[in-house]
Amino acid sequence: MLRLGVNIDHVATVREVRKTQFPDPVQAAVLVELAGADSITVHLRQDRRHIKERDIELLKNTLNIKLNVEIALNKEILDFIVKVKPFSCCLVPERVEEITTEGGLDIIKFTEQVKQTVRTLKKAGIYTAIFIEPDESTIKYVPQCEAEIIELHTGKYADATNPSDISKELSRIKDAAKLAKSLNLEVHAGHGLHYNNVIPIARIPEIEELNIGHSIISRAMFVGLEKAIREMSGLMGR
Ligand code: PXP
Repeated sequence: MLRLGVNIDHVATVREVRKTQFPDPVQAAVLVELAGADSITVHLRQDRRHIKERDIELLKNTLNIKLNVEIALNKEILDFIVKVKPFSCCLVPERVEEITTEGGLDIIKFTEQVKQTVRTLKKAGIYTAIFIEPDESTIKYVPQCEAEIIELHTGKYADATNPSDISKELSRIKDAAKLAKSLNLEVHAGHGLHYNNVIPIARIPEIEELNIGHSIISRAMFVGLEKAIREMSGLMGR
């Protein structure tokens, strides 16, 4: 069954807007688990604009489902992650001024750093995914980084507005997923997926997991977190 990981960064964003104790992403994570999701994803950003170390420590000690932490290539954050030992990490690019993760990680430019990070995480028993653009040359390069999982960036697909661009971006993701699988990589996907664009992505047979945040947390404001997750699960054919 296609797995659903729910990104709860936005809950922490609301907390940080007022620098209060609430809403607490740990409480949200408990509801996400009760609604049947497979994992919780959080992004520990270098500027700590939403998720903080405290959240990750509590999530790790509270959850019965998997905890996946997105991190940039950063030594201080890596040291913390190795100590806390979440189930998995997803390596992402990060720019301080960005609103959200803008593109895939440039694994050709940062091969050595990526490889060392993957090795460090592996030694600590943590699985590593690399967030990359769905393009052939990047995917062919992944085995050199010693990672076994990729998360395909679906942002361009999600941003496309006319039918021919949507179908072009969908084809790129399908081809990328097929190629990755042929290289024995486990394939995940995410970014910008919502209730009206998720079905074609969920139907790609090589994709084993989707990570979705913004649309689920937004819908939860109106229908509640549990219903928002169950509706998304239904669209994913779960
Ligand atoms: N996957 C990765 C690697 C991300 O960085 C994000 C955004 O934090 C997501 C998935 C989820 O994207 P969205 O919030 O648009 O669903």
